[in-house]
Amino acid sequence: MNILLTGGAGYIGSHTAVVLSEAGHEVVVLDNFCNSKKSVLTSLQQILGKELICIDGDIRNTPLVIKILKDHQINAVIHFAGLKAVGESVQMPIEYYANNAQGTISLLEAMKSTGVKALVFSSSATVYGDPQYLPIDENHPTSATNPYGRSKLHIEEMLKDVAISDAEWKIICLRYFNPVGAHDSGLIREDPQGIPNNLMPFILKVIAGDLPVLNVYGKDYPTIDGTGVRDYIHVMDLAEGHLAALLFLSNRYGWHVINLGTGVGHSVLEMIHASEEGSGKKINFQFAPRRPGDIASCYADVKKANQDLAWVATRTLQEMCLYRPVKK
Ligand code: NAD
Ligand code: UD1
Repeated sequence: MNILLTGGAGYIGSHTAVVLSEAGHEVVVLDNFCNSKKSVLTSLQQILGKELICIDGDIRNTPLVIKILKDHQINAVIHFAGLKAVGESVQMPIEYYANNAQGTISLLEAMKSTGVKALVFSSSATVYGDPQYLPIDENHPTSATNPYGRSKLHIEEMLKDVAISDAEWKIICLRYFNPVGAHDSGLIREDPQGIPNNLMPFILKVIAGDLPVLNVYGKDYPTIDGTGVRDYIHVMDLAEGHLAALLFLSNRYGWHVINLGTGVGHSVLEMIHASEEGSGKKINFQFAPRRPGDIASCYADVKKANQDLAWVATRTLQEMCLYRPVKK
């Protein structure tokens, strides 16, 4: 198949590009590089032994998206492009809705006008809000506590309406839990600008000596050791989940939603210890007050993914926390 990856130069998109290319699909990347570097393309070329087609452009440029869909005879789109920092979304809601919601509308207009009606959308466990029960299955009520999460919920609802309006659409929303880790080559990885907000990128910067100390937010949660628990999933498992989602869509019409996680939660302290093993270095950390808006525990019920996608996350915590120094 010919597959367009919007935001394909980003963290999850680049890993998915590897998995899809290696499975024999033709991958076309559309990215405006607002949160990724062009050097990712060289790394992808090194991993795959061939150059990927990449267009430097914005998903909000509808005529450009139409041209790409036509020129490359695209069969399906995986829609990663968007802004994703929760704190920033509170400061800049207009930019978040413009990029995420308006960007998706532009993409949908282009897909409709070219008759490309198969879409995999990057959603997030954030749409579950504060968990009412664990593990979280796809029937768990949804809610949003910030503009980022609300943009994901709005998009999911838009996509549902689109699928209802026209029975030819095939749409799947993948609700990712906490993606971590990197491709074995070490050539592609999560590469946040500035000081990271999320746990694993922060840990990696402490190991690299770029940041002095990790703040562990909260030590009195009702969890195994008092620190927050999350469902961390290796990004290569997540990438393989997209391949499985494409196969699923080949004969499934309508709107679907599926969790992608491991189904197992790990605490912050467990992640620190696994990262110490994975790097052979001691991680300097200190306890700090709870981060506002944080929840104690969050992990997925992954039965639907296992059954419907015939997919399961196989990589271990050790593999997720393996340290690969940046290759210059
Ligand atoms: P990322 O920032 O690394 O990748 C997103 C890519 O989209 C970047 O390369 C960026 O340059 C590009 N982009 C942004 N706006 C664009 C636009 N208007 N036009 C073209 N390109 C644009 O993020 P990621 O971690 O790879 O996440 C991918 C998707 O998965 C996002 O939609 C994100 O919200 C979602 N998601 C991520 C996580 C996570 O923890 N990483 C968790 C749940 C959901
Ligand atoms: C964050 C996002 C969420 C998104 C998810 C995707 C916020 C508030 N939420 O959630 O919307 O879907 O990433 O991966 O940003 N921690 C520390 N020290 C740190 C950073 C984090 O102790 O420096 C702790 C947190 O308190 C939490 C755990 O580590 O218990 C994981 O945090 P993080 O990586 O930010 O992910 P989420 O909180 O799950």
